[in-house]
Amino acid sequence: MWVRNAWYVAGWSHEFTAGHIHARTIIDQPLALYRTADGGLVALEDRCCHRFAPLSMGRLEGDDLRCMYHGLKFAPDGRCIEIPGQKLIPQSACVRRYPLEVRGSWVWVWMGDAAAADAAAIPPSLALDDPAYRLMAGHLDYTAHYLLIDDNLLDLSHLSFAHEKTLGQDMPQWADERPRMSPRERGLHVQRWIRDHHPRGFMKKKLGDTVDVRNAYDFLFPGVFLQRTSFYPVGTAANNLDREPTEPPLFHRIDEQAVTPISARASRYFYAAGARAEDIDPERLQRLFGVTETAFGEDKALIEAQQKLIDLEPQRRMLPTSFDAGPTRFRKLVDELVASDGAAGAGVRSASP
Ligand code: FES
Ligand SMILES: [Fe+2]
Repeated sequence: MWVRNAWYVAGWSHEFTAGHIHARTIIDQPLALYRTADGGLVALEDRCCHRFAPLSMGRLEGDDLRCMYHGLKFAPDGRCIEIPGQKLIPQSACVRRYPLEVRGSWVWVWMGDAAAADAAAIPPSLALDDPAYRLMAGHLDYTAHYLLIDDNLLDLSHLSFAHEKTLGQDMPQWADERPRMSPRERGLHVQRWIRDHHPRGFMKKKLGDTVDVRNAYDFLFPGVFLQRTSFYPVGTAANNLDREPTEPPLFHRIDEQAVTPISARASRYFYAAGARAEDIDPERLQRLFGVTETAFGEDKALIEAQQKLIDLEPQRRMLPTSFDAGPTRFRKLVDELVASDGAAGAGVRSASP
């Protein structure tokens, strides 16, 4: 079952270039996105109401969109405004327009009941051109259910193993210690200390031989991961076990990601990584981003292989461990969201992972 009453990331704002119709699918719903003359973005159902040709195969005419099968023309609000050879345009001639907001550098689309769309509920995220930070961004397509990617992000113990040569190098602490978790609206807050970490490369030059690292993130439905990793002088962890230290960190890494379900076995993973502008120069940012993308390839290989094995025997039960507290809590929350959507009559069926 999908959750329809939610904001989903349709893409990075820069992907939606003017003069083109961009086809996207979110929770099995086809969308056609385009920019109007004022630079605003519109998301319409990518299915002409006449005989269901995709509007993304149509053409833009100013701010309007013409279906290029038989020529019906639609305004940005989804109303049909022209039927060739026919004067009367029935009121039912329209396509659905989806609420859309741009926040930071992400384009968010509300997939449920438009009357319930609350832009204030969109999670905060940084713009890629925020002058206080240096960030790089990308995306990755998965052949897997989105909740398997969410599981991965809610259990960073995997860094010590899946990323033993990249993000988790020389860091057995990820697997050896359990994070602290607290509830957030539609999600969880997760935080942990990695004590006595020995940085490598330019981080070693900058920070010295040993540091304490505080990793903290919000993880919000459907898969929004807003992480801050702060490096402090050794000993800081002992005095600030449960809280953020008041002194500024020596280095402050940013990771912001969003998982968007496309269909039961397809998901898109958007990510940005970087640091405060004073912490990193463009060349080192490239290096940090390169290692990060290599690690994301490691996750993708594992998760897609995991999905294949799940599908071979979907009824087979997994063995729970103490690693799984985050994923288990989040899936319970997803079940609650599906139930509340269903209660509002908005649920649609979909295979689970
Ligand atoms: S299907 Fe769009 S005009 Fe006929
Ligand atoms: Fe990972």
